[in-house]
Amino acid sequence: MAPRTILGTAKIPNDGGELELTQRDNEFSIHLKGLRGELMNSRMHSSELALAELGCAGLKKTEDAKVLVGGMGMGFTLAAALKATSQSAQVVVAELVPEVIEWNKGPLGECAGRPLNDPRTKVALGDVAALFKAQKATYHAVLLDVDNGPEGFTHLDNDSLYSDDSLQAIRQTLFPNGMLAIWSAWSDPKFIKQLKKAHFKVQTQTVRAHKGKGSRHTIYLAKKI
Ligand SMILES: C[S@@+](CC[C@H](N)C(=O)[O-])C[C@H]1O[C@@H](n2cnc3c(N)ncnc32)[C@H](O)[C@@H]1O
Repeated sequence: MAPRTILGTAKIPNDGGELELTQRDNEFSIHLKGLRGELMNSRMHSSELALAELGCAGLKKTEDAKVLVGGMGMGFTLAAALKATSQSAQVVVAELVPEVIEWNKGPLGECAGRPLNDPRTKVALGDVAALFKAQKATYHAVLLDVDNGPEGFTHLDNDSLYSDDSLQAIRQTLFPNGMLAIWSAWSDPKFIKQLKKAHFKVQTQTVRAHKGKGSRHTIYLAKKI
């Protein structure tokens, strides 16, 4: 087996630890250094695609659709959001770690077909939470995959992203019938209750990690009502 090559490392803001990008043949991995584990592997991305396919369902016919993707990772969700929307759409990708964007401009970008090169993509560097302070309807869909689920993993500050106040703030940035879609490694009935309390109509979908096989992931689909 070919050895793994380290292509880059990056500090996560606010002492959140360090990310490392590695490559073995045409397989890329982004993991949290130390014992915290793998964040993303290029071989397994079916549920990252499903996040955008389900979250943007029906937007292909919407003129000037605006979608927010948080965060970039390997760009699969961003690429699927671009595919699910029309030529007049704009897809904003918020990414906390600047190097992740740089990695996607290099060899890693091939994995998802270089979605950063699409003129409809706009990069917002920084914490996606900052974009929810707008308190104004801006997006038709918000697609969140910044962690293992509604619990901080990459970035402990992300816990507050799933608080009641934050869910209300996210709701305000959605147009009526807008969709908040959240990727999670598990299903949590408490979080479903919390979304309902924040006046979302909630459904969940179980999706497999890789072409109908592998781990079962959950996509929370919370519609603004
Ligand atoms: C699991 S990866 C996303 C995978 C992505 N869905 C894909 O298709 O490749 C999580 C990404 O979110 C970023 N991230 C973590 N917390 C964030 C935050 N609060 N705001 C913006 N980006 C964040 C991480 O740096 C990482 O790039």
